[in-house]
Amino acid sequence: MPRVVVFDETGGPEVLRIVEEPVVEPAAGEVLVRIEAFAVNPLDQMVRAGQSPRPVQLPRARLGIEGTGVIDALGPGVTGLSVGDPVILAALPDFATRGAYAEYVTVSANQVIPRPAGLSVADAAAFWVTYFTAYGALVERAGMRPGDHVLITAASGGVGRAAIQIANQVGAVPIAVTRHTSKLQSLIAAGAAAAIATDREDVAEATRRHTAGAGADIILDAVMGPGLAELSLAARLGGTLAVVGWLDPRPASFPANPSLTIHRYMSFADMADPQTVTRVAAFLAAGVRTGVLRPTIDRVFGLEEIVEAHRYLEKGTPAGKIIVTV
Ligand SMILES: NC(=O)c1ccc[n+]([C@@H]2O[C@H](COP(=O)([O-])OP(=O)(O)OC[C@H]3O[C@@H](n4cnc5c(N)ncnc54)[C@H](OP(=O)(O)O)[C@@H]3O)[C@@H](O)[C@H]2O)c1
Repeated sequence: MPRVVVFDETGGPEVLRIVEEPVVEPAAGEVLVRIEAFAVNPLDQMVRAGQSPRPVQLPRARLGIEGTGVIDALGPGVTGLSVGDPVILAALPDFATRGAYAEYVTVSANQVIPRPAGLSVADAAAFWVTYFTAYGALVERAGMRPGDHVLITAASGGVGRAAIQIANQVGAVPIAVTRHTSKLQSLIAAGAAAAIATDREDVAEATRRHTAGAGADIILDAVMGPGLAELSLAARLGGTLAVVGWLDPRPASFPANPSLTIHRYMSFADMADPQTVTRVAAFLAAGVRTGVLRPTIDRVFGLEEIVEAHRYLEKGTPAGKIIVTV
């Protein structure tokens, strides 16, 4: 029988275990996907640890909001897809029952998109959530345009690296932020026009230096926490702050820049809109075709190493996505 990762209680990485479960035959409008790889995301860690933003039913709860694989079976009424098609699982909001941490998953046919040619299996598993989030926050919400200076926090991570590439695709100027001087070079190599290390520089002061004194047009923040007040001072007068994450779990301070337009961006909300999904998929496929968009993979684990993969995520220092091949 196919293997599935489940947890019966919330806690550390060791609560994850592999069990065998029968596949769920696809009902009308559904497809069965044989998963080839999935991504390990910070949300998975929160859910496993008991900090899920939505209720999770125990025991035998599942995890995994994105992955890639091949269509194995079609439910009645599904059109436009065939058995054998390579697809990306375009976010699974009902991950606790139909998560991607498995050899097979049954999902609604509108939760899969074609896998762009030219993406490896690992790249495809790393692609959707981070790139959708960076694109949605920067382009759909903040209205990023060519020439905009875009300050990106947690730039070493999955969303951050996607944001650097998307800013370059649009013709904007990405300025990356990391906590560690040792990561500056890798961020420049990843396409950042400039990089700021908060272990040696003041972020607002350094941003002004890189923007001829003006400040950033847009800040993309995945950290929040007490540093938010000071971070907001890195934006220009009338700039935009788009918050996508909360990597710092401490209470956030109120932005000290009173002229900012602030967006709280949640990609799952946009992923429920088929027109937005089509638009984003087209933008991302074009970026893959031209070679501008290419996920950064930090490490690849095997399914049997799932506990190790979560331990690695918990260190909080990935330089790109963590992928598990099935
Ligand atoms: N809104 C949405 O729809 C959406 C979608 C996907 C993800 N997210 C959220 O976005 C955030 C980033 O996701 P990701 O997948 O890019 O994460 P990730 O790949 O795990 O990257 C995290 C990076 O952020 C930095 N970091 C970690 N902890 C930090 C802290 N306490 N303070 C400052 N920097 C810290 C580290 O870089 P340095 O060591 O270089 O500083 C690390 O490499 C998460 O909170 C995630 O839940 C939101």
